[in-house]
Amino acid sequence: MQSPLPVEHDFSLLKFNTFGIDVVAKAYLSVTDPAMLPQVRLDSRLAALPRLILGGGSNLVLTRDFPGLVLHMTNKGIDVVGRTGHTVSVRAAAGEPWHGLVQWTLAHGFGGLENLSLIPGSVGASPIQNIGAYGVEAGSLIESVRYYDFDTDAVITLDRAGCRFGYRDSVFKHHLRQRAVIIDVTFGLPVVWQAQVQYAELQQELRKMQQDIQQDMPQNTPQKSSLPPASATITPARISEAIVAIRSRKLPDPARIGNAGSFFKNPLVSAAHRQRLLAQWPGLICFAQADGSYKLAAGWLIDQCGWKGQSMGAAGVYDKQALVLINRGHATGTDILRLANAIQEDVARRFGVTLEPEPIIV
Ligand code: EPU
Repeated sequence: MQSPLPVEHDFSLLKFNTFGIDVVAKAYLSVTDPAMLPQVRLDSRLAALPRLILGGGSNLVLTRDFPGLVLHMTNKGIDVVGRTGHTVSVRAAAGEPWHGLVQWTLAHGFGGLENLSLIPGSVGASPIQNIGAYGVEAGSLIESVRYYDFDTDAVITLDRAGCRFGYRDSVFKHHLRQRAVIIDVTFGLPVVWQAQVQYAELQQELRKMQQDIQQDMPQNTPQKSSLPPASATITPARISEAIVAIRSRKLPDPARIGNAGSFFKNPLVSAAHRQRLLAQWPGLICFAQADGSYKLAAGWLIDQCGWKGQSMGAAGVYDKQALVLINRGHATGTDILRLANAIQEDVARRFGVTLEPEPIIV
């Protein structure tokens, strides 16, 4: 007979969401082993409850006590599970912290994930919103995702195409949302690595690091004059170091200031809409997309509306990045949403653009 599930009742989620919102879940289960999931399904009282699947809690706004069962994925393990001439396959359990996985791959000499360094959250959450930064999205490196399907009691493996990755989007945000619990994710990391350094900010940081190394070398050493060009010394670990430096400078550390990273997605507009905006706002920051549309920098739009550093009650806009909403202490989810709505209204009025929240609102 299986041992009973260690379900906890009236459980505070304060430490399990990076916004630091203090709500209580009716029931909570730390899923250390995916074999516990079919057991939840067999328990008629647990199976009848609404479910919230929790990873690192870094993309979540909790607006009320949760009247159901929180399934917190805490399973662990990272392994190499295959190799071809082109890729090394690394499988990581859903409950592994994301940055820990990035560090593990770098320590084992595998490049590919370095641009995604220091993103808060868990491995299991990475495919859901297809986390991305500095020109790389997790979806482009994911080979497959294994999940438990609550509807059918089956463990299913989806390949990359099946995940239908988009900008901060995947099938897990849509029809699989309530039923799929991600167990692990397999990444295909390139054997022949190529640096992804198209972002100007990243190039600048790498140049600065190179200059610092040169300055630290004693004057007139023979090595100094024969240093290789910066491009030759770029390694996955160097890029990771640069990304960590950039992110630490402009994004708040959730351990100190509650936040969920970018609160809104960068909106897409038509070429005609962009043209109209440019006529009025020559400084508009936008990026051409393959389909002819343009992605606008939501942070810039919010900044132009004067919101950077502002507060509404205990919710605020981070003073170094207007796209990040923060908890200034004891904010509720409703406080955060009230501020988000005010920002959305201002941006819509001024730019005719609808901002869509990135985190999941519960
Ligand atoms: N900007 C401003 N004012 C601000 C914020 C930004 O003028 O207050 C300008 C910046 O100067 C820059 C542009 O807007 O020219 C874009 O800003 P940034 O480079 O900081 O990137 P982002 O578009 O705001 C996105 C991702 C981040 C990711 C970075 C780097 C989204 C929603 N956000 O932010 O992802 O780290 O690019 O690739 O796509 C996240 O999703 O949680 C996240 C942090």
